[in-house]
Amino acid sequence: MKIAITGKGGVGKTLLASLLCKAFADSGYSVIAIDADPDSNLAATLGFPHPEKITPISEMSALIEERTGARPGQAAAYFRLNPKVDDLPDKYCQEYNGIRLMVMGRIKKGGSGCYCPENAVLRALVTHLLLARNEVVILDMEAGIEHLGRATAKAVDKLIVVVEPSRRSVETAYRIDKLAQDIGLRNIAVVGNKVRSQSEKEFLISSMPGFEFLGFIAYDQTIVDADLGNLPLVDASQQIITDVRSIHQALLSNIGHQAQ
Ligand SMILES: Nc1ncnc2c1ncn2[C@@H]1O[C@H](COP(=O)(O)OP(=O)(O)OP(=O)(O)O)[C@@H](O)[C@H]1O
Ligand SMILES: [Mg+2]
Repeated sequence: MKIAITGKGGVGKTLLASLLCKAFADSGYSVIAIDADPDSNLAATLGFPHPEKITPISEMSALIEERTGARPGQAAAYFRLNPKVDDLPDKYCQEYNGIRLMVMGRIKKGGSGCYCPENAVLRALVTHLLLARNEVVILDMEAGIEHLGRATAKAVDKLIVVVEPSRRSVETAYRIDKLAQDIGLRNIAVVGNKVRSQSEKEFLISSMPGFEFLGFIAYDQTIVDADLGNLPLVDASQQIITDVRSIHQALLSNIGHQAQ
């Protein structure tokens, strides 16, 4: 099962990604979490010890040079666009509490734009993880679907767009929906986070007719306090754990139906 999570900045993508990893791992699935946000914080949210010591793949210059034939940051006329990456998950996954994590890292955008050796490795790696692995893969992305191309769109069982009760986050969801359609990705669903009342829930439902809602997560001050206290958010709030378990169940039955 391959799940990609996106949405506007700060809506709770990483929180949902971490709790879904936990829900799948707790029910016996083998899980690979991919942190594909340049401002990586999935490791910290999952409670990995010393997350600051994890080197993102995009900063492994020697590896990138070995696989693409070009050094990151240096002008290269040619490099391999489809480098070998199938051995990288086993070599570079970090593991904690039964969850394996790969941190993709930041791509320095320069004159070379997207066509740089780092990006060739990251793209090949995301494609490999989505197309060729048997594990549950959960991809925590920034507010966009740049990591997904046409080739991988079909492999994504669910693109979850996280929204909060705000017009801006709903607008972002519509923009993402359009981009997803452009690459042929149809399995989109929404999760409403930071919901404080029935009227906020109704705001989201009525603002997004035609979208499938997988579930809602309550606003919980415990999460804010855990964040301020630098504690892992994944097990900070029982309320939110319960909310995400029912989203996990909705995913299982929903994706099960598609497979039939
Ligand atoms: N249900 C919630 N209740 C209270 N606070 C929440 C909730 N969900 C998220 N938050 C707060 O919002 C902050 C942002 O959450 P998170 O990092 O998961 O969002 P994100 O979408 O991944 O952000 P970014 O775009 O920066 O990656 C968290 O630090 C937490 O304090
Ligand atoms: Mg995040």
